[in-house]
Parts: sequence; C-alpha cells; structure tokens
Amino acid sequence: MKHFVSFEGIDGSGKSTISKLVYEHLKIKGHEVVLTYEPTDSWIGKQVQKCIETGANPFITAFTFTADRFEHGKQIQKWLDEKKIVLCDRYAESTYAYQGAQLQELIKDPVKWLKDLAKNRIPIPDKTYLFVIEPKISIKRIQNRDNLIPFERVSFLEKVHENYLKLAKGEQFMKIDATNKIEELVDICIKDILS
Ligand code: TYD
Repeated sequence: MKHFVSFEGIDGSGKSTISKLVYEHLKIKGHEVVLTYEPTDSWIGKQVQKCIETGANPFITAFTFTADRFEHGKQIQKWLDEKKIVLCDRYAESTYAYQGAQLQELIKDPVKWLKDLAKNRIPIPDKTYLFVIEPKISIKRIQNRDNLIPFERVSFLEKVHENYLKLAKGEQFMKIDATNKIEELVDICIKDILS
C-alpha cells in the first residue's frame, strides 16, 4: 500500500484528470484520502502564479516553487501522520523538470542543484506516476484553453519532457503511456496504490 503518491507530466498529459478520478475511486472504496496540488493556494502559491504569469527570473521562480513546497510539505506530513493517503497533482519533480529546463543555460547541472535545495526538507513520495506523452501531442490537447501560460510552448516542453525521462530512471517513478484510455490509466494507478 502506498501512502504518498504524486502525479507528474508535461502540460496536457492528463495528470489532473487522472488524479481526480483516482481520488474519487479511492474515496468511494472507503479510504481516507486527500487530493492536493502544486502550485498551492497559499500566499506563497499566489507568488508562484505571479512568477509564471510575468515570466519571472528562473532563479526567483525556482526558489518560489520550492518555498511553496516547503510549506505544503508540512501539511502533507500532517496528513500522512493522520494515516491518510495523499495524492499530489505535481510535486518536486515538476520543479526538477520545469525549472531544470529554465536554468539549463544558466548553471551546471540544475536538476542536482534543485534537488540539493530540497534535500531532507520535504516528504518524498512512495511513488511518482509519470504520464509520458510527446509535447507535440500534449500541446494539441490544450491549445484551445484560453489561459495558456508561457511554459506551454512545444520547444520548452521538449526540454521538460527530456528532464522527466531522465528523472524517471529513478526507482520512485512509474512511467505510464498517457495516450492510453483514461479508465486504464486510472486503474493502473489505483492497483499500484493499493498494492
Ligand atoms: P499546473 O498544475 O499544470 O496548472 P494548471 O492546472 O493550471 O494547468 O501548473 C502550472 C504550471 O507550473 C505548469 O506549466 C507546470 C509549472 N510548474 C513548474 O514549472 N514548477 C513546479 O514546481 C510546479 C509545481 C509547476
């Protein structure tokens, strides 16, 4: 049984839809479950939204996402202490993939740098589901949204996608083909959480 799992993938990969359905399913089955997400709705999360909308400096963006997670991590730990199952729609790996891509030209090994910043400061998921999809396809899925943000460009998402695939070599990850049917994707996650 997994207690803390995160859902990751590039924009348009379907992780938010899937995490919601997984949440509903577990709840119906009688489990004590929480669905949470990042960026959060806290005051720091609001600064994160500003960073995204204004295309802030990548260092400021990275620190702000990380700060939001430090606070969120405390809340997640409380839920875990209460023996709840915690599902998180985006978590630390989003920072490693997205800000890792933003910082690529600015520092050496940005993913390691970002991981070091968070080391021993946030709870680590038992499993991270990575919904893998080609950026060209995921962009098509979201192109009709009227609030597209600066990250949602194919050229940028290609870099994020590459970072995710590198990260997914770690044991914590389960790579899932995001082009499968939604019900199948939900089923894969539920089976894994309950195993
Ligand atoms: P997202 O949850 O995908 O928002 P929405 O539900 O509105 O699509 O997150 C917004 C964007 O922030 C998305 O492009 C991913 C990006 N992001 C980062 O760059 N770093 C992070 O650490 C997180 C959590 C998200």
